[in-house]
Amino acid sequence: MLAHMFDFDQVIDRTGTGSLKWDKYAGRDILPMWVADMDFASPPEVADALRARSGHGVFGYTVPYEEVTSDVLAYLRRQHGLDVDASWLAWSHGLVPALNICCRMVGASGSGIMTCIPVYPPFLSAPYFSDRKRITVPLANAGGRWGFDWDAMEEAVTPETELFILCHPHNPVGRTWTREDLEGILDFCERHDLVLVSDEIHCDLVLDEGVKHIPTLALGERAAARTVTLHAPSKTYNLPGLACAYAVIPDDGLRARFQRQARGVITEINAFGYAGCAAAYRHGEPWRQELIPYLRANRDLVHAFVRDELPGVTMHPMSATYLAWLDVRALQLDNPVAFFEAAGVGLSNGADFGTPGWLRLNFGCPRSVLREGLERMKRAVAQR
Ligand SMILES: Cc1ncc(COP(=O)(O)O)c(C=O)c1O
Repeated sequence: MLAHMFDFDQVIDRTGTGSLKWDKYAGRDILPMWVADMDFASPPEVADALRARSGHGVFGYTVPYEEVTSDVLAYLRRQHGLDVDASWLAWSHGLVPALNICCRMVGASGSGIMTCIPVYPPFLSAPYFSDRKRITVPLANAGGRWGFDWDAMEEAVTPETELFILCHPHNPVGRTWTREDLEGILDFCERHDLVLVSDEIHCDLVLDEGVKHIPTLALGERAAARTVTLHAPSKTYNLPGLACAYAVIPDDGLRARFQRQARGVITEINAFGYAGCAAAYRHGEPWRQELIPYLRANRDLVHAFVRDELPGVTMHPMSATYLAWLDVRALQLDNPVAFFEAAGVGLSNGADFGTPGWLRLNFGCPRSVLREGLERMKRAVAQR
């Protein structure tokens, strides 16, 4: 057994860093377990790379230089078995802007965009911001296992529908979709001639041993013909503040449509974003190899705690992400978020994901903090 090289137990004070997650509750005794960033320091090589870049002292407009592109391509090949051409990459400041561009590059005002709920809230706002019609279909849940409700999807799709947005692995339910699931999604998209956006930002956060992320593009030609894959190192290596993401778009026509909509909206990415991205992909794997078992143990702790100590709360099995999806409907709370905030825990509101009565708990934090959050929830549930 190798000694641990990284200390995920270390509690790092994030006050004074403009942290979205922590500043929401500044000055209040509320542990923030909402927005999806982790309270861990990134791999040390990322900070080294940023120091090296800052040491240069000149911070002019920066384009995707050879090193960062080759690090991305090497990562996609090594980690996911994908042969990607450099020309297929389209960089952006984040997945959210890229997602909004995808919504604008299909159809026209009033066209339909479909996704399955619950889902990451920007999937719901992007069609709206783009003046498209949002079509949401609830995921099925058979005995605790989440899946697609193919019949409901067939019923909901309209001739005006142009795009399907897939979250893979799925935030918030934590499913890693199988090859069979992905074949089903591609069949559906082909049948209705939909462009497919596959958001794979959580793809390197598969927690179950023996489960592997299958990129949508691994399904070959028919996937390549209609898929825009959205990617970033930001979830895995905890660098969302560096604002650096990219789309992989093999099809020339789709890529041209994306680039047309991106004109004047997506400008140069910041120099530190590229440096952090390259360093994370080049050097971050040993760190990630220790992160995954740490997160797995956190996940198992949350799962057991919910089962044994939080009557009225249910958590279904999940195989990926550091986000637990909790069904609190049986507690019959008027305002579940406010209830747990009053108990000192800040969670994400299921209503924002399209399903009121659920909460999302971010367990990407030191175990001592997680334990404290869970104990606070236990006391609140017991005293209500
Ligand atoms: C599924 C999914 N997509 C995208 C993002 C965020 O992307 P970005 O910060 O690059 O805009 C998140 C963050 O939680 C996410 O969970």
